[in-house]
Amino acid sequence: MNRAVALNPRAAELPDSQEALLEVRDFSLRRGQAVVLDGVDLVLRAGETLGLIGESGAGKSTLALAIIGLLRPPEVRLEGSMRFHGAELTRLKEADYRRLRGNKIGLIFQDATAALNPCFTVGEQIAEPLKRHLGLSKWDRREQAAALMQSVGIPDPRLRLEAYPHELSGGMQQRVMIAIALACNPELLLADEPTSALDVTIQAQIMELILERVRALNSSAIFVLHDLALGAQVCDRIAVMYAGQIVEEGPSDRVLAAPLHPYTRGLKSCAVELGSRTLIPIPGQIPPLNAMPAGCRFAPRCAKAQAICGQQRPLAETRDGRQVACWFID
Ligand SMILES: Nc1ncnc2c1ncn2[C@@H]1O[C@H](COP(=O)(O)OP(=O)(O)O)[C@@H](O)[C@H]1O
Ligand SMILES: [Mg+2]
Repeated sequence: MNRAVALNPRAAELPDSQEALLEVRDFSLRRGQAVVLDGVDLVLRAGETLGLIGESGAGKSTLALAIIGLLRPPEVRLEGSMRFHGAELTRLKEADYRRLRGNKIGLIFQDATAALNPCFTVGEQIAEPLKRHLGLSKWDRREQAAALMQSVGIPDPRLRLEAYPHELSGGMQQRVMIAIALACNPELLLADEPTSALDVTIQAQIMELILERVRALNSSAIFVLHDLALGAQVCDRIAVMYAGQIVEEGPSDRVLAAPLHPYTRGLKSCAVELGSRTLIPIPGQIPPLNAMPAGCRFAPRCAKAQAICGQQRPLAETRDGRQVACWFID
């Protein structure tokens, strides 16, 4: 869509599907006429963590929901490919998705209060995937649920099994959601702004907990975050998303130390300025979905933009060990 050249030159450089746990290729998602995700490419290998970074409205949650199959036709239109262990997710039947979701792929939402069911005890909710996917007996489920609660730092787990969500603090509810997401040892965890609904004082603690569990299970994870520095700190790789496109993707240390895309640079200087207590945002905002520029979607906000930027979409190029989509990389 909106592409100057149809084929992605990256394809030949990336490993074959066998090596990738999740492989997203030229993936687009439309809501009606609006192209919400446009030609997204991502590869996640086993045991790798990826930070998906971008400001609000970039399409991060849309991508996470599409991967886990909660945004599907006819609600949206999908193009391109998403493969998990080589299996094409865009063609998966709902029954097959149900076997993946909460089992091979776990999901942590931003808001545990909204995600947990107020009518069931937390013990029942942690035990549910253990019954559905692993077929554990009632007694084993109870034991395993208590062990999971212990593993996410919930004190007196046997007592808390009987608690309803509203009887727990926000932090404890988030721990319950982490326990549910990791109950079946998923190979892939999607964590969509997992700490942003929590008090600042416990955000780092919960982030640390998720990372520790992901490492202990040797799972892969995608962390949706809006903070570039935090993403680089906790993830192996960073993918920067702007207006439904990945504009820069590569190893965290390089992306943070020497960002190449003007938007990544803007995100980095925002963070630096915020550190010194003067917030200087990138001027302007993401264009509305019904008025996306034909060329580079960042061009209207970019100080370096030239005529071509407004006319043709830049394709991702390999530069300094990463992928950057910009007509004027230095
Ligand atoms: N349910 C919806 N209906 C219509 N548009 C939506 C819906 N959810 C999100 N959008 C739009 O899709 C775009 C991407 O949103 P989202 O994926 O939530 O971004 P992010 O998670 O990066 O903040 C935004 O323009 C947003 O307004
Ligand atoms: Mg979001």
